[in-house]
Amino acid sequence: MLPNPLLLPARTLTGEGCLLRLPEAVREFGQRGVIVHGRALLGGGRLAQLLAAFPSGAQIRAYRHAGGEPTLDEVESLRGELRRDRPDWVAAVGGGSVLDLAKAAAGLADAPATAADYQSGTPIPTATLPFVAVPTTAGTGSEATVVAVLTDSRRNLKQSIRHPSFMPRVVILDPLLLHDCPRATLAAAGLDALTQAYESLVSRYATPFTRALSELALKGIVESLPPMFDGDRAAAPRLLESSYLAGLALSHARLGVVHGLAHPLGARWHAAHGLVCACCLPAALRFNAAATAGDMARLKQLIGQDFAELIETWLRKFGLTSPFKGTPLRETADIVRETLASGSTAANPRPVTGDDVIALLREIF
Ligand SMILES: [Fe+2]
Repeated sequence: MLPNPLLLPARTLTGEGCLLRLPEAVREFGQRGVIVHGRALLGGGRLAQLLAAFPSGAQIRAYRHAGGEPTLDEVESLRGELRRDRPDWVAAVGGGSVLDLAKAAAGLADAPATAADYQSGTPIPTATLPFVAVPTTAGTGSEATVVAVLTDSRRNLKQSIRHPSFMPRVVILDPLLLHDCPRATLAAAGLDALTQAYESLVSRYATPFTRALSELALKGIVESLPPMFDGDRAAAPRLLESSYLAGLALSHARLGVVHGLAHPLGARWHAAHGLVCACCLPAALRFNAAATAGDMARLKQLIGQDFAELIETWLRKFGLTSPFKGTPLRETADIVRETLASGSTAANPRPVTGDDVIALLREIF
């Protein structure tokens, strides 16, 4: 019933304003910390407020991620800073990109090889630097996973690295941080979370434990993303917690062919990950329909409507347009090879062949 091993963050704090409990949460790790953040923490004087909440004597350095999905070069640059400064802990406050950047750099801080080597399969040693995750979007669920997705900009390759010791020690889910999230980001990130909840639900590695998490996440996202998109901030806690649950589910059950496709497509078309997932999802739902009939019937009961219809409705409601439709498909052989090599594709409930990937790509484009 349980995934083996079961890996959870040791502590998860929730509640409006709980970002300011970060100083108390890291006290046991030591006085010297690095806070990796993106734009979200600069709004409303949040960074200054957070820094002021630390006791005198604490030595905190803020490190700003310029934006965009994290590259190997950015991980190396942050690793260099961590080796020089030797902090007692690293906290990331931001969207999935900020979390993955900091998770990889903290996780590899004392590792001997390059991030590129680890991305290529060199075994990762156990990380010891405590890592704290504070998401400002409800999407990747990276705060609850042992995974970091990194882009090798030289090879145009987007691939995850993972290690059990990458699990954040502390997670802080502060719904106030979602309030400033732009609507387009809210929608794209929410569709990533929804895709992850669906793919972990039907994954061939799903267990009753992960299925329960996936179902909680699916129902939560279905009921909270539309109101949040329409400006009802009361939906923020549910959305944030649902994305966290989807992260926990995928960290143990893995994903499916949507994420297998999303990495090679995202690396080449440079579209937001959630948008890429959303655009691949309808074709994958059709591809998986026969293999997942039982799950989809239960899901329909759970959310009160057909999941495929809901996706089509949401794509229209959120005004999301495909970055692929009508553009010429290029580098097909490489995309097929990378999709088939992906651990996500291997977890898809229906086995995926090269011809299947080409058929899916034709639908997506
Ligand atoms: Fe994702």
